[in-house]
Amino acid sequence: MIIAMDGPAASGKGTLAKQLASHYGLGHLDTGALYRAVARDMLAGGRDLDDEVAAAQTARNIDPETLEDPGLRTAAMGEAASLVAKLPQVREALVEYQRAFARRPGGAVIEGRDIGTVVCPDADVKIFVEASAQVRAKRRHKELIEAGQDIAYEEIHAQIAARDALDRSRAVSPLVPAQDAHLLDTSDLGIEAALKAAVKLIDSVIR
Ligand code: C5P
Repeated sequence: MIIAMDGPAASGKGTLAKQLASHYGLGHLDTGALYRAVARDMLAGGRDLDDEVAAAQTARNIDPETLEDPGLRTAAMGEAASLVAKLPQVREALVEYQRAFARRPGGAVIEGRDIGTVVCPDADVKIFVEASAQVRAKRRHKELIEAGQDIAYEEIHAQIAARDALDRSRAVSPLVPAQDAHLLDTSDLGIEAALKAAVKLIDSVIR
């Protein structure tokens, strides 16, 4: 079974995707980490983030062993990731890795922005996770403060709004729900309630 989960930054899709993978015994891939890793390696190599040829080359050479790097989780890296994610050749370079992961025996939960629309259009279940911009900014702010980063709520709110606008408006693979995606709004749901709602939805589709 392949579960495709898309949604904007801090919608709760990351936490949900991990929990769903463990609930159904599936593999889990956070595709945002791939774009963050491209941005990290470009910056480390002193490259401009809009150098498409270098970025595509970097994308082809991503080391999957480095995707858990805590350095990927900063707000600045999220922003840098959304810049390299606009580049068609970068998306093309990363799509095969994502599809190969999806095809692994036993199935997978894959989360990102274009999983239901581009990476896995034939996924068994597609969920588009939403939450209001305020709720998402509060969640992300709490997460970053707990991780020891000193950053104001207003700054996070502005960053999230800017990143959403970029992700939703880009020409290639914009953030948009697939036509056959199920919408899940987590604005008023805690983690447990969101998981329960997602499991109910998935069970109703696959049974
Ligand atoms: O999900 P995360 O916040 O880690 O994603 C970082 C950035 O990577 C997003 O803002 C988006 O620009 C890009 N991304 C993407 N397509 C995906 C996953 C992430 O464009 N499938």
